[in-house]
Amino acid sequence: MENSHSPRHDAPAPRAVLFDAYGTLFDVYSVAQLAEQLFPGPWQALSLLWRDKQIEYTRLVTTSRRYGQLGTPDISPPFYRPFGELTRAALVYAIKKIAGNDPATLGKAEMDSNVDQLMAQYRKLDAFGDAREVLTALKARGIPTGILSNGDPEMLSAVVRNAGLADLLDHVISVDRVRHYKTHPEAYALGVHAIGAPPEKIVFVSSNSWDALGAAWYGYTTLWVNRAGLPFEELGTQPTRTASTLDAVLEFFPA
Ligand code: LAC
Repeated sequence: MENSHSPRHDAPAPRAVLFDAYGTLFDVYSVAQLAEQLFPGPWQALSLLWRDKQIEYTRLVTTSRRYGQLGTPDISPPFYRPFGELTRAALVYAIKKIAGNDPATLGKAEMDSNVDQLMAQYRKLDAFGDAREVLTALKARGIPTGILSNGDPEMLSAVVRNAGLADLLDHVISVDRVRHYKTHPEAYALGVHAIGAPPEKIVFVSSNSWDALGAAWYGYTTLWVNRAGLPFEELGTQPTRTASTLDAVLEFFPA
């Protein structure tokens, strides 16, 4: 819990916790390990580009509209697509860019098989070591808990079930319901509606700095879990607290 900042004295006492999923509760390391097996040379660059492209695609489909469509509820494809589809598209892009688009380098069958294997890994990620303990401690203190994620409902229920966390989460909320990805306010609003409390009464926990920033801008009390020792976003707003591990969330709720 080093590097943790104290909350402001006038900060309202929170009464629920919402977690981001990928990289926050669930460790995407096993995907990187598999990428290393499948693409031994460029796997690191590939993993980074995959993640960046995935997020870029969520923003692209959230902000793009056809002429005359702005302000209408029609957000049918080609814009919104479930996170699994965007993640797969981002992976294919990253492989083509980093591992080569030459069919002689990577045949279609091999490409499809590698993509299928990496996508399957996404559904069985391990939870971080301290996730169960932290969720159990929150439950013991009577604090409602949930996930608010870009992941589509099917991906999220698979990963929650495989990690054995279903009993410890009161809400598993996918932005798919509003077909807008974080950091769109309608995506963050889902957490407020599910908990039934204003955002400042909810601690939003993310290890993605852009997500912690978006949540802070929306009005959540925020914990940025900075596992990688990265700088925070340089846009002026800071998270309520920063820590290197999930258990720092318990400091918001003295036993
Ligand atoms: C999520 C991604 C952003 O779970 O980690 O929403």
